[in-house]
Amino acid sequence: MKKILFMLCCALLPLAASAEKVQLSTPNNTLVLDVWKGGEPKFVYYGAKLSADDFASLPAPTNANWSHLDIYPAYGATHTMSETAFAMRHADGNMSTQLLVEEYGITSVDEQAPNGKPRKGSLLTIKMKDPLYPTYVNLYYFAYSDVDMIECWTDITNGEKKTVALTQFYSSCMPIRRGNVWINHFHGSWAAEAQMVEEELNNGLLRIKNKDGLRNATTDRQEVMFSLDGKPQENTGSVIGAALMYSGNYDVIVDTDDTEYHYYFAGINPDNSEYYLKRGETFTTPRVAYTFSKEGLSGASRNFHRWARRYQVRNADRERMILLNSWEGVYFDINQKGMDQMMADIKSMGGELFVMDDGWFGDKYPRNKDTSSLGDWVVDTRKLPEGIEGLLRDAKKNGVKFGIWIEPEMTNTTSELYEKHPEWIIKAPQREPVKGRGGTQLVLDLSNPEVQEFVFGVVDNLLTKHPEIAYIKWDANAPVMNHGSQYLKEQSHLYIKYHEGLINVCKRIREKYPDVVIQDCASGGGRANYGLLPYFDEFWVSDNTDALQRIYMQWGTSFFFPAITIASHISAVPNHAVFRTTSMKFRCDVAMSGRLGMEIQPKNM
Ligand code: GLA
Repeated sequence: MKKILFMLCCALLPLAASAEKVQLSTPNNTLVLDVWKGGEPKFVYYGAKLSADDFASLPAPTNANWSHLDIYPAYGATHTMSETAFAMRHADGNMSTQLLVEEYGITSVDEQAPNGKPRKGSLLTIKMKDPLYPTYVNLYYFAYSDVDMIECWTDITNGEKKTVALTQFYSSCMPIRRGNVWINHFHGSWAAEAQMVEEELNNGLLRIKNKDGLRNATTDRQEVMFSLDGKPQENTGSVIGAALMYSGNYDVIVDTDDTEYHYYFAGINPDNSEYYLKRGETFTTPRVAYTFSKEGLSGASRNFHRWARRYQVRNADRERMILLNSWEGVYFDINQKGMDQMMADIKSMGGELFVMDDGWFGDKYPRNKDTSSLGDWVVDTRKLPEGIEGLLRDAKKNGVKFGIWIEPEMTNTTSELYEKHPEWIIKAPQREPVKGRGGTQLVLDLSNPEVQEFVFGVVDNLLTKHPEIAYIKWDANAPVMNHGSQYLKEQSHLYIKYHEGLINVCKRIREKYPDVVIQDCASGGGRANYGLLPYFDEFWVSDNTDALQRIYMQWGTSFFFPAITIASHISAVPNHAVFRTTSMKFRCDVAMSGRLGMEIQPKNM
């Protein structure tokens, strides 16, 4: 009996006397966690900034062996029945992990944001370890000093002698108290991206995910908003906005179980991506950016736009050029005279930039349609006898800047690149590659450093030979259609290593070419995400340029992305995608709500 009493006392008493409420604040938001040495950190509060009195009146921290408010629940030791943020297989096969705090603290940070701008804020670091295994997980929360945004992420280090397997590795988790909570998320498809869905959160699991491999914003989007006071309102009500900042396969779930909370989890999609960590290696998850606003959906949007324009978009403090893009005007029918005429036409309409789209390259195999030549980034001199030099000369003569389209992550079975480097493509071992666009398109394996070098070289060659090029449209028109790297030993690392490779290349390009304007495009709006935007100035919203449908797509996109990133072009009528005729005034108004451009053949108008 005595023994039983003793055990009960132990279970109720805190493990350590030093339990602390830790708060982190931005100008108008506060996050509070309960943290103590030897316990699991717990969620207490996220919302409007707390006064000192409010903070003091929060309930005293209570330690418990298990809590449904653990902020980064790990699978297997205390958490098994609920959703978890983290799971792994230790080297001895044990599938349980417990993450207990070893140390924590807040430091001031003064560093460079990913878009190259300086940023300041406070960083809460919570260092956790498994009491039985040398598994170390650091949980980070960075609160900006001048914008209402808190970014959360983790890193995971294996201290075991042998390799361990990570099977679940969300970046962050956020409990949201039940009540009348609604979610806004953005579903889509090619030519109909970012269609807003607004629904009340109910019992059960809501999962938003992407498994495209490359274009993670074509279908569903990784950004969501939660309205805490009932049906979402534009200007009133408490709203939490959350944006995972990743360019690859992602997973966002909201679990509503039998507790009084909805649980939001976001991170890299673990499906077919078991990740092996060797001794001493560290795996860092992408960040989730959170904001809170009392001014409804639009308040949360303004917070995202402010943060994005300062820290997450390349050169967002610069005015954009009004441009003409050749795609819907001439498609693959590129020739020097035609380009010269389009340059003169955009100039005469007050524009500042001409962009030559697809169709300009290929020597042995000319790019006359979408079935060949990707990877052969040499000018087709049959179409452009004076090369890019001739085009730059014409641009100068016409008083406009010049831009160019590339799709550097891709090749076609009909290309000199593929003939030379069949080992560079993504394909399943022992199987014939599955082909995409045009029945011939293949994705290059960016997990391979040689491919990274090649992709960097595509941009580097263009810009070293032709420093006057002012704009690049970087396209990506294929998903990963078969699983396999001819480079990686660990096949399950393909998706994650691909995106690490892509970011490596983007960083190198921006170190060398900080100023050139680069658009990210992926079969339309497939890469509208904060994983890539720090390296890009803008993105193409959709291949559907019908002004009426664009209103819905641009509106959905504007929940999280500022107007300066939203490339929006006036196109011809009847519209090429949906055959609708709208007035010129209407088309201009819609295009002017983003970064204004044109996608027309002026001489036909
Ligand atoms: C993709 C892009 C278009 C255009 C074509 C060129 O579909 O989204 O804007 O660049 O490729 O092939």
